[in-house]
Amino acid sequence: MDREAAEAFERLLDALDLPDAGDTSNGREALPLRMPVQDVQRSDDRQIVVGRIETGRVSVGDRVLFSPSNGTARVAGIEARDAPVPLTEAAAGQSVGLTLDEALSVERGETLSHEDRPPIETDVFRAWLLWLGRTPLTPGRRCTLRLGSAVTEVEVQSIERAIDPNQPDVEDADEIERNGIAEVVLRSDAMLALDAFTDNPVTGRFGLAEGNEIVGAGLIGMEGYPDQRALITGRSSNVALIDHGVSRAARARRNRHPGGVIWLTGLSGAGKSTLAIEAEDRLFRKGYQVYALDGDNVRHGLNATLGFSPEDRAENIRRVGEVAALFADAGFIVLTAFISPYRSDRARARAAAERTGVQGFHEVHVRAPLAVCEARDPKGLYRRARAGEIADFTGVSAPYEPPDRPELTVDTGDRTVEQSLQVLIDHIERHFALTGGVAPEE
Ligand code: ADX
Repeated sequence: MDREAAEAFERLLDALDLPDAGDTSNGREALPLRMPVQDVQRSDDRQIVVGRIETGRVSVGDRVLFSPSNGTARVAGIEARDAPVPLTEAAAGQSVGLTLDEALSVERGETLSHEDRPPIETDVFRAWLLWLGRTPLTPGRRCTLRLGSAVTEVEVQSIERAIDPNQPDVEDADEIERNGIAEVVLRSDAMLALDAFTDNPVTGRFGLAEGNEIVGAGLIGMEGYPDQRALITGRSSNVALIDHGVSRAARARRNRHPGGVIWLTGLSGAGKSTLAIEAEDRLFRKGYQVYALDGDNVRHGLNATLGFSPEDRAENIRRVGEVAALFADAGFIVLTAFISPYRSDRARARAAAERTGVQGFHEVHVRAPLAVCEARDPKGLYRRARAGEIADFTGVSAPYEPPDRPELTVDTGDRTVEQSLQVLIDHIERHFALTGGVAPEE
């Protein structure tokens, strides 16, 4: 099986015309430390973390990090199976057992690194994939990802393009035949620790399996996708939650409706802001406690320090998700109008509302074909993006991941603003009915 996988990687690298750069032991040692954890053994009160160092070097006394659990400890000792005495350091290619200076809950499948050069944490990534399955690959297919010592389920979220070394790439290919190569986006339920192939050619590769059968070999890319590590690494300690004296029910009684989040997502120019601002006005006049949070506005204040890199967008949405949850907890119906291009971020926004105890989070896909958004181009940004004046522009040079199960989709491409607005307001009124009925318009 290993030989089969190695051959598949060779074919893939060949086809993509990439050198196998990490193949020399010198090359491997110069890369950041990566050791996939194979096993954690406990003897007496000692915990020994066992694995093969894939790249880099480790010494006694080094501070190491385990991803994705994010525990850190110092290396207290290094043992190698073939060495009679304990080592002071070890390097790529060696299989070792490391003892740590404190007990951590580490599991097989995690990656050990140094604290200052960690792997990326993400639940979604791009891949250049050689497909070896018997039946053609189509989006939605679930396989087992083998990445380092981790084994986890992934879904092929999309096929971005089919690659044939002798022909132009085919965008939006529906399926990939056996032995075909494609750029795909893979999503896992769990957080993964990984490296892009361009950063680490040894660990930036993976296998796909179905049962015992290898169905793919791939190289990892992260273009357009953020490292989510910063988003999930809490830094505040010694903090406790306090309870409010005013209950959520009391606020709902006064407002005559519970709080909630109406999360609009879609391309720039799809109509999110127009709908949010109009709906805010109409609902307010009907008697709702309502507030619209808009991307362009929030980026002038709370998020003025953030740009449009994948990491900044993810942080933008993390903050807005938390703010929306607070507004909803305060009793408001909050309408958010942000591109929010990544599914993982929108899922985190939903989780923030749920964590706060808010019942109603409604993801609304404000949908219009890219060509329509581009023709509207209300701010002239598409034109500038196409001219190369704006980098990382959603839909042009940065990804947009449409929701897979939104509570509502509003197709604005073939509707008037008034029609789209009606669809949105009907939905909100159905799910947040005013007790005592609608007030006469002010
Ligand atoms: S998000 O991706 O982080 O959710 P957000 O909704 O806050 O984006 O901001 C999008 C708005 O910023 C767009 O409506 C547009 O006016 C402006 N903008 C400026 N640069 C970009 C870019 N590179 N990609 C998308 N929108 C941009």
